[in-house]
Amino acid sequence: MLSIEDNELLTRTGADTPMGQYFRRFWQPVALVEELPEPDGAPLRVNIMGEQLVAFRDTEGRIGLLDGRCPHRGAEMFFGRNEECGLRCVYHGWKFDVTGKAMDLPNIPPGARHHDTVAIKSYPTREQGDMVWAYLGPSAEFLPDGKLPEPPQLEFTQVEAGHRYVTKQYVDCNWAQIMEGDLDTSHFSFLHMPAPSVASNENPDAPADARRLRWIRNDPMPHFSILEHDLGFVIGGMRAGDAGENYWRITQFTLPSHGTGPSTFPGETYFGFTMVPITDQSCWMYCYGWNPERAIEGEERAKLEQGHGIIATTGADYVPVRNRTNDYMIDREAQRNVSYTGVKGLAEQDLMIQESQGRIVDRSREVLTATDAAVVRFRRTLLEGAKALAVSGKEPAAPWQAEAYRVRPGSWIAAEDTSFEDVMLERFDDPLGRIK
Ligand code: FES
Ligand SMILES: [Fe+2]
Repeated sequence: MLSIEDNELLTRTGADTPMGQYFRRFWQPVALVEELPEPDGAPLRVNIMGEQLVAFRDTEGRIGLLDGRCPHRGAEMFFGRNEECGLRCVYHGWKFDVTGKAMDLPNIPPGARHHDTVAIKSYPTREQGDMVWAYLGPSAEFLPDGKLPEPPQLEFTQVEAGHRYVTKQYVDCNWAQIMEGDLDTSHFSFLHMPAPSVASNENPDAPADARRLRWIRNDPMPHFSILEHDLGFVIGGMRAGDAGENYWRITQFTLPSHGTGPSTFPGETYFGFTMVPITDQSCWMYCYGWNPERAIEGEERAKLEQGHGIIATTGADYVPVRNRTNDYMIDREAQRNVSYTGVKGLAEQDLMIQESQGRIVDRSREVLTATDAAVVRFRRTLLEGAKALAVSGKEPAAPWQAEAYRVRPGSWIAAEDTSFEDVMLERFDDPLGRIK
């Protein structure tokens, strides 16, 4: 459990909070590239960590991320005209470029000092891995060498476009409890299982075959091992497999809010996600599947587009179709006879239970067990990082190691007496799952 103070610290990411300041040291996704498809197209509202912003792709194809409100009298820039390399407020015509510089202030006399002083807040952006990333941290002049860090080179951003599938889904609660749900792979033995009355170990929702489901079902108390590194940690969840073997599910956590799916065997498609707070009570989950060895196409791509694994079935607005407002379309008959939850879709099962913990789960009232080891480590890592920055001005090292973000998760079967360190070497040829 956490104290009420630490729970607040972990979950609040507004600009004036320690975690908000910590998060702002890292590049974060603010949109999918498909949301800003063309030069001079419609602007996009971007709400992130309590800030209301607007993104637009200018005539030259550059992406600007500006304050959502016009500095003149606060009109919403979203309604603006995206024209000739700038976004123009339609109230009185003030126009700004992607860097926030005023290009035209038509109701101010020539020569007035406003022409030199007026600007709109803006943040740098980059396109990488079909996502638009933004840096909401200190401006370059306050950073070492006067340079910004670069967005993390998570592996899906580095493979060819055809080898990945990238989307996002709206989540109706605080970001941290979703992260915790991913790191706690022990819940798979319950939440994602067939109903107890179902003899077969098959679950159409779960990206695992009957053999894996049998191991997961039979062992509800996986043993967790954790290896820490500069960017976060890697967790091995070990369950008994067939005679003389263990079944390992390995998950990567990288700062501040990137997680992975642990189910992938070599050759299969990998899954990961990035949690981005919208407010303290809602967030985006950017989800991605990638396959370093082959393109994701045909039936496999169609499946992901319709919602599969950690990817929910969403509408055009990226809001899950089965959501809090309709009780995730829970089917009590199916809960008796088909699946443990009666809810369709692994992602929806996760969303149902994690959103149900409360808009911000009260961690001062929980009773933790040994299978919550990764959850505890996650909280400690984030709290230590945010406190070190807030109290002693210690900047996190991770944002400056963009290349080191190329780490893989995955599954492995190892002889019973194999240590986690050796499992990592067997599975990835590297103690931390880094790829060369
Ligand atoms: S409020 Fe935007 S130009 Fe007046
Ligand atoms: Fe889950």
